[in-house]
Amino acid sequence: MIIKPAIKNNICVRVHPIGCRENVKRQIDYVKTKGSFKGPKNILIIGGSSGYGLASRVTLGFGCNANTINVSFEIEPKRNKTGTAGWWNNIYFQQFAKEEGLKYKDFIGDAFSFEMKQQVIDYIKREYGKIDLLVYSLASNRRTDPVTGETYISSLKSIGKTVDGYSIDINKECLKYEKMEEATPEEIQNTIKVMGGEDWDLWVEALMKEDLLEEGFKTVSYTYLGSPATYDIYHEGTIGKAKNHLEETARALNTTLKEKYNGQALISASKAIVTKASIYIPIFPVYGAILYKLMKEAGTHEGEIEQKYRLFKDMVYGEEPIIDEVGRYRPDNLEQDEALQEKVKEILNKIDNDNLHELSDIKGFVDDFMKINGFNFDTVDYEQDVDMETLNEVELY
Ligand code: NAI
Repeated sequence: MIIKPAIKNNICVRVHPIGCRENVKRQIDYVKTKGSFKGPKNILIIGGSSGYGLASRVTLGFGCNANTINVSFEIEPKRNKTGTAGWWNNIYFQQFAKEEGLKYKDFIGDAFSFEMKQQVIDYIKREYGKIDLLVYSLASNRRTDPVTGETYISSLKSIGKTVDGYSIDINKECLKYEKMEEATPEEIQNTIKVMGGEDWDLWVEALMKEDLLEEGFKTVSYTYLGSPATYDIYHEGTIGKAKNHLEETARALNTTLKEKYNGQALISASKAIVTKASIYIPIFPVYGAILYKLMKEAGTHEGEIEQKYRLFKDMVYGEEPIIDEVGRYRPDNLEQDEALQEKVKEILNKIDNDNLHELSDIKGFVDDFMKINGFNFDTVDYEQDVDMETLNEVELY
């Protein structure tokens, strides 16, 4: 089949397998060019099929020769449906890892469930005995509590007020007016239930109970802090509350891990980038497109792989950590530059559909969106017939 992009409500409902391969390959090439470093050996990544989780997997797999286990939620291709980008990213990660002689394993399913935790635990016991790093990089809009069976839906809403602004229409490459509604107390609690630290804690607890953590074990999860320009929609909104819970979880985990394994639980704040998850956040894409322009002009722009390479090589396993006053690791430091943020704020106040292309990097932003779905790579022939069945014959191991 010939696969062309189809975008509905800012969701790419088709992905291109060969382009996904290119996305994974470019990240691997980046890590290889930058060089290897000493790090963990056996790693579990929750949410390692795309965005920051995939970049973490590539960095640690190809940067440290680490064995990686990934748990992600994917849709398999079927008939004329192309599946999720994460499905293909996993397949191609495996192919490249195999060529490199790395060990890998993918579990496809619900990381929130006890069944998935058990499967992963059985595998670690069998194959490795212990792990030395857990990366928790899950982004989801729903979670079924494995204890009660109740399903919670998260909301991307503001707290205490409604927020007006623009978002980006990816299809038309233009601004669209958007209103972020005020969350109810229940919506705030539900968002914490989904995107807070409860499930991260359950993973560490389950691994600990089975004695699967190595001496010096570390675990890291990701937050976004942003700047005053995004506080209303993120840091002080429902998702920000969930991230506060994630940070509280990190503090509690850190105490336990330090005591038992001389280990560490970390929170790292990452830069705003285009991912399957971040594109849903109202108003965030406009901020992102402006940020892209200014950071590219300043020569400080980074994507997911640059961010994660710097986090693990320089900070978590290196000698140059950037740590803030509450102990977060801060590879988002370049986004936080005060003069840059002043300029972002200034542009946000005057951006409209007439000056959008001049004042923001909407082209680059949309291009990144296309690329995470396997499109817009100049090295891929998009007129070429793609034999999905043959490509998908690769059994995910
Ligand atoms: P993403 O959408 O690219 O990746 C999410 C991952 O979670 C995927 O691998 C997906 O398969 C997996 N997942 C979702 N539901 C699952 C489930 N029930 N079971 C198993 N796996 C599941 O998202 P992104 O943006 O990379 O987010 C990862 C983390 O990074 C999140 O904590 C997010 O808040 C954080 N972050 C993202 C930023 C951004 O600009 N994208 C900025 C700062 C932090």
